[in-house]
Amino acid sequence: MCGIVGAVAQRDVADILLEGLRRLEYRGYDSAGLAVINNSEIQRLRRVGKVKNLADSVAESFPQGGTGVAHTRWATHGEPTEANAHPHMSQDRIAVVHNGIIENYKELKAELSEEGYHFSSETDTEVLTHLIYKLLSQGECLLKAVQTAAKTVTGAYGTAIIDKQNPDVMVVARSGSPLVIGLGIGENFVASDQLALLPVTSRFIYLEEGDVARISRKSVEIFDKNGEQVERKVNLVDAKADSADKGEYRHYMMKEIYEQPTCVRQTLEGRISASGIETGIFGQGFEEVVPKINHVTIVACGTSYHAGMVAKYWFEQYANVSCSIEIASEFRYRKFYVHDGSLFVSISQSGETADTLAALRLAQEQGYLSSLSICNVMGSSLVRESDYHFMTRAGTEIGVASTKAFTTQLVSLLMLVLTIGKHKGLPAGVELEIANALMQLPSKIENALLANKEIEALAEEFADKHHALFLGRGDQYPIAMEGALKLKEISYIHAEAYAAGELKHGPIALIDAEMPVIVVAPKNDLLEKLHSNVEEVRARGSILYVFADKDAKFQSEENVRVINVTPTEDIIAPMVYTIPLQLLSYHVAVIKGTDVDQPRNLAKSVTVE
Ligand code: G6P
Repeated sequence: MCGIVGAVAQRDVADILLEGLRRLEYRGYDSAGLAVINNSEIQRLRRVGKVKNLADSVAESFPQGGTGVAHTRWATHGEPTEANAHPHMSQDRIAVVHNGIIENYKELKAELSEEGYHFSSETDTEVLTHLIYKLLSQGECLLKAVQTAAKTVTGAYGTAIIDKQNPDVMVVARSGSPLVIGLGIGENFVASDQLALLPVTSRFIYLEEGDVARISRKSVEIFDKNGEQVERKVNLVDAKADSADKGEYRHYMMKEIYEQPTCVRQTLEGRISASGIETGIFGQGFEEVVPKINHVTIVACGTSYHAGMVAKYWFEQYANVSCSIEIASEFRYRKFYVHDGSLFVSISQSGETADTLAALRLAQEQGYLSSLSICNVMGSSLVRESDYHFMTRAGTEIGVASTKAFTTQLVSLLMLVLTIGKHKGLPAGVELEIANALMQLPSKIENALLANKEIEALAEEFADKHHALFLGRGDQYPIAMEGALKLKEISYIHAEAYAAGELKHGPIALIDAEMPVIVVAPKNDLLEKLHSNVEEVRARGSILYVFADKDAKFQSEENVRVINVTPTEDIIAPMVYTIPLQLLSYHVAVIKGTDVDQPRNLAKSVTVE
């Protein structure tokens, strides 16, 4: 949440900062600002709303300077007003951008106010800003002032600070919120996500927890949490600078929906073939862990949590191990029982979700056999801190509503099921069947995408609805949940998902002609049960939208719209049935005119609690 970009260069950096903010806008988009040092003065611009508003004012006032910081905000403390937008300044000397939450800001604010500091915003960041200024004015250098301030504040921060009295230096610090340094030639950068810096560099240093760095044009000095100077690895990132482009699509979300066949292919490549799952794909040493696994604990948030829910069905059916799945924000605050031989699996697109990361750290203290993260961002905190990691190769996902990350997470989890299953009595024939089904998945998704026009037409019927109910059974229940989440995230229609068998235990009371009911109905062992549920809904006057296999014996008739989905093997049906639900929510949102890629109040990467 919130995006940070900073630069120390010889050239003017306002455009680099703005481009970085545009690329980070998915992290927060209620206000934006930048500050550059120009002739030993700080020039600051802040605007409410999207980065475009800031870009307009940059175009009018041409701020010049080679050292600068910028920020796109997702409000935590204080409304999205210009006064609350970053950068924050103290006595016109320093400018600070910050991502995270300073938990003891009230106490610090009281102390600083008493000492005469004036607060012009409601933010916690301004407290950090005055605190750093106070330490500077006591004679500390910028690096030392930030190190001391870092010890005084509690909570999470990723921060970058510039000081007009040290115009060629920027100091950055990380604790709980990601920061990456981008290395240029005669210029250096910082950002909360490397994506922001891909137009200017492909060499990155990921800061560790507690690191503080002093960055100049020609040098980067990093100090760890104990204040010791340390070397951190330089990583070359092989990502195309244009991966943040929409291409021919109107929205990132649609582009990402259509990328799914390719992303799934990439995720499978070299890891599975017609002769089964390859060994060693979860990293060196993981094969030795596998025989010891008796239980799998999955922890995740949002869409990633739904992927984990599907996997629970698979682990218990095919890998012969028990599996529990939990939302990270619940897991981290309760007393839990660790089964012998428990593998801790975290799932995250970003690898920076605060609750998921905290759950991993907690699990590492609690005697789990080992930890594995399934993640889409190389170098992310989750990847670096887990014993093993497995990359979903979905490429950069920009749309706030997760799509391609979800399907590639499912594919990755299924490969984990096979890897564990092989040691737990999964018959070779079943492994081959699953492997072959997975190999066909990209073309099955391509077929599912062909329903786009039909679904677009159907979406018209949802535009004036206020509520929707999604029903599924078995491993399609989490898919119904994911469908409901997509609809509420981007179209703001209240949507709920129920396991169809629960219908009679409450939600049936809600059903009337104003409540559309969406059913995911592949042809599987539960189909007959689902038929009965559908009849119960129909009898109560609701309009039904049934996504079903051609031979699932559903027919369009009055108040029932059947959308045929390509028949598919049971095991990959969750991925295939996800596609039409993604398309449905996308088209409903477009018809309603909402901001599809940056829906209100949401952020792509939730790096604060
Ligand atoms: C936010 C995003 C969701 C995402 C969730 C978990 O809520 O808007 O799309 O599913 O975070 O994120 P993660 O990066 O951990 O998968």
